[in-house]
Amino acid sequence: MQRTLARELPNCIGQTVYIRGWTNNLRSLGKVSFLLVRDRTGLMQVVIENKEELAKIETLQPGSILVIEGRATDSQSAFKVEIVDPKITVENPIRDIPPIEYYKPELHNDLEFILDHRPIALRNRQLQAVFKIQAEIAHAYRLYMHDIVQASEYFAPNIIGASSEGGAEFFNVDYFGYTATLAQSSQLYKQIMVGVNERVFALMPFFRAEPSQTSRHLSEGKQFEFEMGFFNHWHEILDIQEGCIKFIVQYLNRHAKAEIEALKGSIIKAPADIPFPRLAFAEAQQLYFDRTGIDERHEPDLSPAAERELCVWAAETVGTDLVFITDWYTVKRPFYAFPNESTPNLTNTFDLICAGTEITSGGQRRHTYESMLEGIRSKEMNPSNFEDYLSIFKYGMPPHGGFGMGLERLTMTLLKLKNIREASLFPSDTKRIAGNRIKAHIFFGGENIRNEIIRRCRDQGISFKHTSHEPTPTSQDSARVRGTLLEEGVKSLILRGKNTKKNYQFNIPSHLKLDIKAASETVGEKCEFEDPATILERFGLIVGGVPPFGNLLNLDNYFDDQVSSHKRAAFNCGLPTESIVMDSKDLIALAEPKFGKFARS
Ligand code: 4AD
Ligand code: MG
Repeated sequence: MQRTLARELPNCIGQTVYIRGWTNNLRSLGKVSFLLVRDRTGLMQVVIENKEELAKIETLQPGSILVIEGRATDSQSAFKVEIVDPKITVENPIRDIPPIEYYKPELHNDLEFILDHRPIALRNRQLQAVFKIQAEIAHAYRLYMHDIVQASEYFAPNIIGASSEGGAEFFNVDYFGYTATLAQSSQLYKQIMVGVNERVFALMPFFRAEPSQTSRHLSEGKQFEFEMGFFNHWHEILDIQEGCIKFIVQYLNRHAKAEIEALKGSIIKAPADIPFPRLAFAEAQQLYFDRTGIDERHEPDLSPAAERELCVWAAETVGTDLVFITDWYTVKRPFYAFPNESTPNLTNTFDLICAGTEITSGGQRRHTYESMLEGIRSKEMNPSNFEDYLSIFKYGMPPHGGFGMGLERLTMTLLKLKNIREASLFPSDTKRIAGNRIKAHIFFGGENIRNEIIRRCRDQGISFKHTSHEPTPTSQDSARVRGTLLEEGVKSLILRGKNTKKNYQFNIPSHLKLDIKAASETVGEKCEFEDPATILERFGLIVGGVPPFGNLLNLDNYFDDQVSSHKRAAFNCGLPTESIVMDSKDLIALAEPKFGKFARS
């Protein structure tokens, strides 16, 4: 029998259907149970009344793979159609409880927790919707560039010889003993390709060594690249960029309705008949000053607050969420930017700001050999790293220019997401590589953690005593084997926020108990003790060995005020059979905790 998809069910009323998919969840209401099954097009409701059928799936967890034959009927439920009299076959039973409740309509977890469980979390309806929309954005971009702009797609290398954007934000890689660079963009190649095909576009990876953790920077992403030759005025690039955004927005409103609905939002406004305002950089600064009284008119760059305000202005007075800023200072633009004819400290460049965040940079490029050489030298870069690129200017380049638009920035701003990581399947940043926490930085496992504590003590000239001993089930036992007072012991507890599922570390004197209510108030959400198995899995620590160094575990780390009331502090240093004793003031200097009152007798 041929498989019916969720999307096709409304056309099958009264027929026998055969569906396949994942168990999403099962709700039992006495005699009837409702099973939700997920396939690539959505959810389906199966109504189970037969006890034997129910028994096949009752103990299974979400994610189990099922094949079901049943009859499609009209339904009063939100699904409009449901499947009755099902015969269920379990193709792949799943018995492990998923680490994140992805099958719920919305996830209320902290973003870090979601990223920690990314491969499974992505199955959530809303997360799935973000990336389906992202796929539609990429498709719409290709359609627009290919069909309307009549540009040719190119595929450029990503391991290259020299930085394409200058600055310090690039990664070097060891390449057979030589140093290569991961492309910050395909800037040089798109200009080379203008010499070949005149109008070119691409969707290319970029790598940026952005040292700070912000809500709009990734270290790896994708850029929509575009470059064209032979314009009459460089603002034709802005026209194409504007047409492109409007095309994408219309395309999504037409082809991604269900996904936009799942995100409970509308996407940003870019009405076809309203041109995006175009402000020169100096005008934008003046406008920001006029609206807020904040004077950044002598700054060479726009602050994030100014970018937000300019978009508020555009939305309020013009009716669009996007605004172009043109004519940026030469010091702030890359070597290839074309100097403004009348004002040489300005360039023929632009940024496009969408709902408060830069999504695109672009502009006209230098196009003669002499000018390009001058540009490279003016940024103190070495022309010999650019031989291939420079050759195109020797052998004929027309006036040309283009833009680079970040895929993740565009997805984030179009969908009004708060953090760019929500728009990247497996984000890389200062703390993660391809979604995974960088373990070497966020020390994992008892021995690594002990070594790091000792290394830091030695580095900072802190004196300490390190001892090995039998495992100590109680704090009294610990005090005895360490030869310290019970009150000098520090007990380290890992809690979990009930809402965010985020972990916190609380440290209290050994003779006291944790007041979990006070701890909850300290962090602003209800907390409970984290499960020992999870602590082992997540931090590589056995509960009796957790040291008061939540900072090494990337946890918010809290000390009760009373920890500092004794001169010495004694604690397990990562393993239940090893302890360290040091001055409590040194411990505080190393662990850099926040303080609070959450210990009681
Ligand atoms: O502004 P950028 O650095 O400009 C270029 O790469 C030029 N080659 C573009 C041109 O054609 N002149 O990067 C272009 C866009 C940014 O506006 C932003 O959307 C995205 O790429 N981008 C980043 N997105 C997330 N994280 C980062 N670290 C990004 N760096 C750039
Ligand atoms: Mg930029």
